[in-house]
Amino acid sequence: MSQDHGAMDSLLHEERRIPPPAPFVEAAHASDPEVWDRAAADPEAYWAEWARELDWFEPWEKVLEWTPPHAKWFVGGKLNVCHNCLDRHLTTPRRNKAALIWEGEPGDVRVMTYYGLQRRVSKFAHVLRRLGVEKGDRVAIYLPMVPEAAIAMLACARIGAIHSVVFGGFSPESLAGRINDAEAKVLITADAGYRRGSAVPLKNNADAAMEHTDSIEHCIVVERDSHVGRELGVRMKPGRDIWYHELMRDIEGGVDCEVMDSEDPLYILYTSGTTGRPKGVVHTTGGYLTQVHATTKWVFDLKEEDRYWCTADVGWVTGHSYIVYGPLAAGATVFMYEGAPDWPHRGRFWHLCEKYGITLFYTAPTAIRAFMRWGEEWPEKYDLSQLRLLGTVGEPINPEAWMWYHQVIGKERCPIVDTWWQTETGGIMITPLPGLTTTTPGTATRAFPGVHATILNDEGEEVDAGYLAITKPWPSMLRTIWGDDERFQAQYWSKWDGIYFPGDGAKRDEDGNIWILGRVDDVLNVAGHRIGTMEVESALVDDERVAEAAVVGKHHELKGQSIAAFVTVKEGVETGTSLADELKAHVVEKIGAIARPELILFTGDLPKTRSGKIMRRLLKDIAEGRAVGDTTTLADPAVVEALKRRYDEGDA
Ligand code: PRX
Repeated sequence: MSQDHGAMDSLLHEERRIPPPAPFVEAAHASDPEVWDRAAADPEAYWAEWARELDWFEPWEKVLEWTPPHAKWFVGGKLNVCHNCLDRHLTTPRRNKAALIWEGEPGDVRVMTYYGLQRRVSKFAHVLRRLGVEKGDRVAIYLPMVPEAAIAMLACARIGAIHSVVFGGFSPESLAGRINDAEAKVLITADAGYRRGSAVPLKNNADAAMEHTDSIEHCIVVERDSHVGRELGVRMKPGRDIWYHELMRDIEGGVDCEVMDSEDPLYILYTSGTTGRPKGVVHTTGGYLTQVHATTKWVFDLKEEDRYWCTADVGWVTGHSYIVYGPLAAGATVFMYEGAPDWPHRGRFWHLCEKYGITLFYTAPTAIRAFMRWGEEWPEKYDLSQLRLLGTVGEPINPEAWMWYHQVIGKERCPIVDTWWQTETGGIMITPLPGLTTTTPGTATRAFPGVHATILNDEGEEVDAGYLAITKPWPSMLRTIWGDDERFQAQYWSKWDGIYFPGDGAKRDEDGNIWILGRVDDVLNVAGHRIGTMEVESALVDDERVAEAAVVGKHHELKGQSIAAFVTVKEGVETGTSLADELKAHVVEKIGAIARPELILFTGDLPKTRSGKIMRRLLKDIAEGRAVGDTTTLADPAVVEALKRRYDEGDA
């Protein structure tokens, strides 16, 4: 394993056991302790039970067809995701229930009932159809956290178009790469979005991206703020760019839901892997919706009267599965917030919890660590008594942060669900069930019923410490990598026969709980965001002054990891702080601000094996200030000594 797990080892001595609170247990959706065994005895029957909670236009003939690594779930079944998230609720009292409550960063508020949301989605679906979007076409979505992001996704689902949401923090170049890979026909963006009081120029970025794409026929622009849009100099290209509100004003009525096959693609979502090129993870319809619906209901114990808030951005998989599809399929009231947690003050999230009576709150460990640092005085200013469950996702949560969340936010009343999953898994895979599981701070505990997770070594033998493995297909699993099934097979299914390799290290404790130890491949997790070291390296060597670059993750108190880059420059290039700053800016321009290296260290040589492979393990030791490991396989061990000395002297 390429990662050092020493720091995490200590976590395994965690002795605290936190049983679910009694009042919670009595009312919990998942209350039968036999459910794991029952699901394991017949996973297909178990998942079929969940699938029957959805509306199907035509029933499936077979629950699962598994020709590793290709799975088909609910074979022959016909349904529509948008119908399940919206239309089917309109014949129930949910028709008048708030589906979406939204607050913008400046404090503007919008509320949409299920009826109101369905109407907008159906009209926008009509708009897309009119613009020539057909079933199977790709639509790129590059929006801030505004209701139109959910509307656009659901409208695509309604007509069977495949959406590819690109996080608003990505650069024009990253956006262009994703548009080109999927050959998207339409791009939906906004004039601007708000983040920490400033306007993010999305349309200007989109314009820059579209200069490098041929496939976009129309760009639909949501007007977030006309004043700001003018200030940013937003321009509309005649024939290509159209305002969302004008299209919606001019269209009459909506369209019906397209009848989709259970295995028709619902969306593509790009994520970082071990090469420089992001992978387009493909999710399909029936199995995906079944698992996100099931996990939303059981993991968050979602009830009719809940107010649910997941703080993720719709640009990430968490936003897809647990802001839009899972909660709306389950008929929830979803709260959505546009901006940053510390704007205009560090109590903003807690103020929102109080103001909207949030009952279920789902966030990331990196945010929890920031809240801890900001101090208890912020949450203490607000009434958090409506909260009844807390969730976390995205990276391992350290027990200290877990306990803080439990005591300061949850007041020891709210169960915590630490949920492990990935863009590729589509839905939650390892998690406590809040009314059943006795938790230990720091572990995601065990697999969701019907999911089969274990820990294997390189030989595929079960061990207590090794690689996390998923041994059976699950409904919301990725089906392929867009346009690259070979990469799909090589990346996830070549380590063991017919077993999924997620790329995480894991250990099991004496209670049988699984502890996730972080990535074992060249993928970093910076503040819960996945970034491939190769992507950052490619961005660095793209600068003509750089000869070679090696990027590693460095432990970071708040973000989990930060990026450290070791760079060699071409002859005659002067190194120093200004070059380091320029290179950092170059990475931001190429990928986006989330990939900015925290540290750039210039070096004459990089430590390499005799065959020329860069020894990242040693660079990681240096970046983390540890004693450097075995250097005997190096072509020139002196390189490491020199680097370490320079690093320790603070020559960064
Ligand atoms: O390393 C694991 C970590 O995040 C990776 C997946 O990243 P992404 O596809 O961006 O999805 C994040 C949101 C689902 C995993 O391979 N990870 C995610 N959740 C946890 C976690 N690590 C530890 N504990 C978690 N609860």
